[in-house]
Amino acid sequence: MVRAALLTAPGRPLELVEIDLPAPGPGQVRVKLAAAGVCHSDLSLATGLLRAATPVVLGHEGSGTVTAVGEGVTSVRPGDAVVLNWAPACGSCHLCSLGEPWLCENSAGASAEPYAALADGTGVHPGLGVAAFAEETLVAERALIPLPDGVPLAAAALLGCAVLTGYGAVHNAARVRAGESVVVIGLGGVGLAVLQAARIAGAGPVVAVDVTPEKEELARRHGATDFLLSDERTAKGVRQLTGGHGADHAFECAGRASTIRTAWSATRRGGRTTVVGIGGKDDLVSFSALEVFYFARTLSACVYGNSDPVKDVPVLAEHVRAGRLDLESLITDRITLDEIPAAFDRMAAGRGGRSLVVF
Ligand code: APR
Ligand code: ZN
Ligand code: ZN
Repeated sequence: MVRAALLTAPGRPLELVEIDLPAPGPGQVRVKLAAAGVCHSDLSLATGLLRAATPVVLGHEGSGTVTAVGEGVTSVRPGDAVVLNWAPACGSCHLCSLGEPWLCENSAGASAEPYAALADGTGVHPGLGVAAFAEETLVAERALIPLPDGVPLAAAALLGCAVLTGYGAVHNAARVRAGESVVVIGLGGVGLAVLQAARIAGAGPVVAVDVTPEKEELARRHGATDFLLSDERTAKGVRQLTGGHGADHAFECAGRASTIRTAWSATRRGGRTTVVGIGGKDDLVSFSALEVFYFARTLSACVYGNSDPVKDVPVLAEHVRAGRLDLESLITDRITLDEIPAAFDRMAAGRGGRSLVVF
């Protein structure tokens, strides 16, 4: 039996339960979690803003050690350190064949079927196919990314979502170049990772924006050169900090229509907004037909940082080894499984950086 934080239905509190995890079947791998980050998408799944089949073990930002492999598994062995991938690409669908594995048409399938059972036999779903809020998990072989040398195993969990997403938003999606100006709205684990990636790109100025003033100190530590509180004057404030033009790039990391609109308004004519946050289906953002033409801006989203994790995690690891990427400072709270609800509360109040469940 394995201890897990279970969501029985949207809006219900998480419950600590024991689940029965079967031995790995063909193509499956069992992983003992070292750590799991608490991402806003877990909170959105827990509240019902995003939908998930229940009961479910959430948690999609994890790292750990392989303990057993099923028939036909060739890429990992027991004892290997791995990062979990919540969007494992099939490699053969239309979008994979176009070279966009982050949009794989078959990546979301795993969470539809139960992977474990409660004591009474009820099937339990793996959140985003990963189910990292448990001592151990069972995933498909392709959901594993081998952990390169030199990255501490627990902190490496963050590579599985926040850092891959934030770094990829800057380097793969927006392709920020040295000297370009950047604004980042929403400074949780993802937004802070975007700030670090902008620093690595040599961007400047890098303006950080949040609703909570206590994020300023955190933001500056992660590479922000300026900080603004989020309100109706934010776009104007960004223009003032960028010679009156607006930023070359905006990154929306709060998952709201209002911040998407602010991000777009904060960019220069011809600037680019990259939407990283995941908002609700009824949260609408509007643009006038004239301004869409006049400002000639680009608005696009990125999924999982438009990354190919197998290629990009080694790049991130090289940045970690060289001291350019600081995983440790992203982690502001180390917690246990039963403290995830408190981490959700901190997140809802806009406090702290990443909370990391350490097993
Ligand atoms: N303006 C600016 N910042 C805001 C606003 C707003 N109107 N509303 C919330 N924020 C800030 C919060 O104060 C917090 O600092 O956005 C930040 C969000 O951080 P987290 O809750 O820690 O979220 P994170 O895990 O970083 O995810 C960010 O990316 O993956 C998606 O679903 C995820 O949409 C979420 C986003
Ligand atoms: Zn996430
Ligand atoms: Zn595919």
